[in-house]
Amino acid sequence: DKPGTPSASQDKLDALDPFRQGPGQALTTNQGTPISDNQNSLRAGIRGPSLLEDFILREKITHFDHERIPERVVHARGEGAHGFFQVYRCMSDLTSADFLQNPEDRTPVFVRFSTVAGSRGSTDTARDVRGFAVKFYTRAGNFDLVGNNIPVFFVQDAMKFPDLVHAVKPEPHNEIPQAASAHDTFWDFASLTTETTHMLMWVMSDRALPRSHRMMEGFGVHTFRLVNAEGHSRLVKFHWKPVLGIHGLAWDEAQKISGKDPDFHRRDLWEAIERGDYPEWELGIQVIEEDQADKFGFDLLDATKIVPEELVPVQRIGRLTLNRNPDNFFAETEQVAFHPGHIVPGIDFTNDPLLQGRLFSYTDTQLSRLGGPNFHEIPISRSICPFHNHQRDGMHRMTINTGRVNYDRNSLGAGLPAELPPEQGGFASVAETMESPKLRGRSPSFADHFSQANLFWRSQTAVEQDHIVAAFAFELGKVETVAIRERMVANLAQVDSGLAERVARELGLPAPTGITVCAWPGSPSPALSMVGSGDGS
Ligand code: HEM
Repeated sequence: DKPGTPSASQDKLDALDPFRQGPGQALTTNQGTPISDNQNSLRAGIRGPSLLEDFILREKITHFDHERIPERVVHARGEGAHGFFQVYRCMSDLTSADFLQNPEDRTPVFVRFSTVAGSRGSTDTARDVRGFAVKFYTRAGNFDLVGNNIPVFFVQDAMKFPDLVHAVKPEPHNEIPQAASAHDTFWDFASLTTETTHMLMWVMSDRALPRSHRMMEGFGVHTFRLVNAEGHSRLVKFHWKPVLGIHGLAWDEAQKISGKDPDFHRRDLWEAIERGDYPEWELGIQVIEEDQADKFGFDLLDATKIVPEELVPVQRIGRLTLNRNPDNFFAETEQVAFHPGHIVPGIDFTNDPLLQGRLFSYTDTQLSRLGGPNFHEIPISRSICPFHNHQRDGMHRMTINTGRVNYDRNSLGAGLPAELPPEQGGFASVAETMESPKLRGRSPSFADHFSQANLFWRSQTAVEQDHIVAAFAFELGKVETVAIRERMVANLAQVDSGLAERVARELGLPAPTGITVCAWPGSPSPALSMVGSGDGS
């Protein structure tokens, strides 16, 4: 059974069939009325005014007028592909997730890769984080692993996300510059928000210039949970390891490619799949017992931290293969709706305050991006298992629910959907004990913003370090406000004095003095032995 041949992974493609429209049909209006002239409008006299009566012209133009939908507020630029996922062994010891049980099963997936900051038509090879969003169409519902190609994030709390994105995006008064990071507002925010430092190191590294989507890692970033049928919960970090290894572009190459072929990554992915050179990743997991969570010297709920692979090795548990391009960019890639809150029995969230905010944000944004509460019915996002509930109506409702009962509890609706207890597969949240007061604030365990930035710096080869210095110098060199440059260099001195001195020299600034790596009170010494940079880096 070779990739691409019919198998369980065809389920989603088969389900899309009724919605596909091919050539060979007579031209009609949307109401099915055959059209005899699609070239000329109806006029009063051959050179006279066009008539309002012309329903064919009106319909054609009206539809055209409404062909654009809002682009994603972040990750607007992206490309998708169909494929399948196959687990290597039954994972029932760790999770009851249906798609992680049987190595024979091929679970259909749709994957979308993206840049974060650029608009829908922006260049592929900008220095930026890459989105790596995977929708698994499992028999127990859709599971979306909405990750990035960098294992940490800029901010620790969802409260900071709108500020981050406002600072990263082009400046509001003149919509300049399109290059995400090379401007005052981004570095102003970053220099005043030291929790960004670890992520900044990755973004200034070659990781932010992938050679191809096929050659980059993916990460779930947050700590999630795996829960087995007995209800035993463990903490987990998700990784995607590219079979082709990790490869980056040089900055000079990336800039030239941007000019010559802004579709470089999109084209690369499309062409690889067309020629049968199917991109593949292995799914990796780092599993941590819940009672070990506070043994690391950093907080597993802090999305600015990795779990070093030397401390918790990555187990490779399955393989993702992308083997079919979409038929229609808009219908599939543009309309697909990923959401970290789409989980299935056997997987659960943690209290990571960034993740918790994301759980609200995605459906909320999609309500306006995709026009109302029924976008789960759009073919590309529909689950392959049927969905049944008492939700009704709303804009663009497709389902024709029958019967007179649309409420629960009821005694009149025999055969209507009923709850499924957890022992029969119904979703149940991990029963976590919460005994803290309600308050705003940041845990002291989130206070160390520099140790892992230092860890990353020291994990890099001399050439990679040169690239990081050059990137900081280039990006900060675009910053007009000298105080921002100085503040940023002072922050880098907290990471590594050599790094800060080199960047300062490039910028013509005095070398900063002194390093204080802050650790939160009472923490074990920060785990500085390694970084989870994966194969080939
Ligand atoms: C897309 C919000 C953090 C990965 C989006 C979108 C929003 C959003 C509103 C657009 C969704 C759409 O229009 O369909 C947030 C918020 C965050 C956050 C509020 C923090 C509080 C993250 C993090 C990651 C991430 C930490 C990576 C782990 C992605 C990806 C997409 C995306 C991959 C693109 C999905 C696609 O391809 O359609 N995010 N995000 N985001 N986000 Fe986040």
